Amino acid sequence: MKDIAEIKQKVEKLRPAINYHNYRYYVLDSPEISDSEYDELVQELKQLEAEYPELVTPDSPTQRVGAPPVEAFGVVEHLQPLLSLANAFSHKELAAWHKRASNLLAGRSFDLVCEPKIDGLAVALTYIDNLLSTGATRGDGYRGENITHNLRTIRSIPLSVPKEAPPRFEVRGEVYLPKAGFKKLNEERAKERLPLFANPRNAAAGSVRQLDSSITARRPLDIFVYGLGWAEGKTVPDTHWEIMQWLKSLGFKINPDIALYHTVDEAGRCYQSWVEKRESLPYEADGMVVKVNPIALQRELGNVAHEPRWAIAYKFPAIQGTTRLVDIGINVGRTGSLNPYAILEPVRVGGVVISQAALHNEEDIHRKDIRIGDWVIVQRAGEVIPEIVGPVKSRRTREAEVFSMPSRCPVCGAEVIKPEDEAMHKCTNAACPSQALERIKHFVDRGAMDIDRVGEKLCQALFEKSLIKDAADLYYLTKEQLLGLDKMADKSASNVLNSIEASKDRPLARVIFALGILHVGEEYAELLAENFASINELARATQESLLSLPSIGPKIADSITAFFKQEGNRHIIEKLRKAGVRLEKKKAEEVKPAELPLAKLEFVITGKLEFFPRSEAEARIKTLGGKASSDVTKKTSYVVVGADPGSKLAKAQQLGIKMLSEAEFLHMLNQAKQ
Ligand code: IVH
Repeated sequence: MKDIAEIKQKVEKLRPAINYHNYRYYVLDSPEISDSEYDELVQELKQLEAEYPELVTPDSPTQRVGAPPVEAFGVVEHLQPLLSLANAFSHKELAAWHKRASNLLAGRSFDLVCEPKIDGLAVALTYIDNLLSTGATRGDGYRGENITHNLRTIRSIPLSVPKEAPPRFEVRGEVYLPKAGFKKLNEERAKERLPLFANPRNAAAGSVRQLDSSITARRPLDIFVYGLGWAEGKTVPDTHWEIMQWLKSLGFKINPDIALYHTVDEAGRCYQSWVEKRESLPYEADGMVVKVNPIALQRELGNVAHEPRWAIAYKFPAIQGTTRLVDIGINVGRTGSLNPYAILEPVRVGGVVISQAALHNEEDIHRKDIRIGDWVIVQRAGEVIPEIVGPVKSRRTREAEVFSMPSRCPVCGAEVIKPEDEAMHKCTNAACPSQALERIKHFVDRGAMDIDRVGEKLCQALFEKSLIKDAADLYYLTKEQLLGLDKMADKSASNVLNSIEASKDRPLARVIFALGILHVGEEYAELLAENFASINELARATQESLLSLPSIGPKIADSITAFFKQEGNRHIIEKLRKAGVRLEKKKAEEVKPAELPLAKLEFVITGKLEFFPRSEAEARIKTLGGKASSDVTKKTSYVVVGADPGSKLAKAQQLGIKMLSEAEFLHMLNQAKQ
């Protein structure tokens, strides 16, 4: 056996080395060694610690990842409240704020610190005796959630600080997901068919509020520290600027763009330059925070309600541009809805050329009073499709035309109707070619029959050449027909045919979904497949039998029966059957309720779920054989904890019921499905 003192020495050498490289990589963004060299160091430490667990310390770099799930978040009382900021939207408002502060300070002059306002979520990190002791969310400003276990996984948050730091202090900062990390995370989620995050802020907030920190650890989160909450036992610098430099020297990551100015006009110029470069920043920023530099003067200024008088958020303008609305085009969707969209004179908005924008429906166009030929303001927000904010009425000419939805379908000429309870106009022709093409595209899609190599373009080409009129025709294609298409070589034609052949054996739920019955999404398709043994049986289902299923209401029941009444749809199903597509459950699919993966498990959901409405979550539980209840009792197997959980959380804690975060719950559902 090796000498323990020797091992201890080795471990004590490895830790600062890893911390140092960690700091170079995550805080300074300037690593000195390669990732694999870094991994080797960590591996070596991990091995030693595994062999000699008595040498593990809480601030060891190995202690960042994958702590076991905690039962639930505890509450942290903030010693000093976390305030919010007042906003300014123009230089005039910024100058007015500055003047008010100067007046209150009887004309004493002060410097200003400008910092990007990071769009993430506020956290407070408390260090006691040089170790990270608590990390908490802002909560209501006075009480936040204890998310220490998750914050420990963020590499740019130091787990320990140098000896010269005060014995007790709290730093505050913004945890965020860099733009690149956000994009990657959503790409991965799309692959796993998980719902996408709307923006980096939601993604960051969702990531740190996990019960299982190994999920947080997989998200590329980062932090910018922006202030000191409080400190005890040592004097600290007396200006905000110096505090920030001091925090940096203690190992915290501060924003590299932070700047110090004398006058409000200089701050205004700084703002302009940031507005211009904002798109190129690797993180989302929604404004510039301006702070009075001397801490003594900050104290004198104090707060009004929940906002300090010594700081203000000068918000960036929305990313907008102006251009001409050349025309309004219409797409006809799979369900026959007429979707209007704006055709624009191409315009550059925040570095991206935009020539189309979303126009949701006729009512929306009229409410905003948008006319064809108008100059319009287009807006981009994050990664979403550009939108039209409204017309520039002062530039309107007499030629501007009020838009109205056509009374005939632009694709097939059939009559267009607008059902009273719906926002969209609809083409009444079930055989409308545009609808037909959209339905074929849906049929081959990943979540449906998942026909590899048959994408949107190929569907369109086949459809335009009249080689297919509906999805069932795909199963009758010949190699010769495929070879007649542009850029289709022998090998690819064989591959396409093989893919189509392979799709004949998809599970019943997928076939039901692929048929494209209005309102029947993937989850409902699963539910139907659990309860009906074949498409034939489903086609014969009565309103009554459908309504007896959990979460199926009259709207869906109507839509299902109407679908199977249509001659065209029955014909397609017949063609599918003749081609050999399996339209019933395989033996293995005929599982008895007691054999379903969640059988005998009882779930209670509390709080707001981020990814799906509670009704859908409950439907999923039932589909997989579980029970969804509203009361926590001794029989409850799991409590799913969403945002702002209610009293059920306390009840569950009291009874010692196992809790799941939404992500853990999703994971469980996904596992169960396989
Ligand atoms: S200072 C008393 N500085 O903005 C003011 N806040 O609207 C304390 N934020 O909750 C905040 N970047 O989460 C400050 N450089 C920055 C910031 C920043 C983002 C967030 C913070 C705060 C919110 C206030």
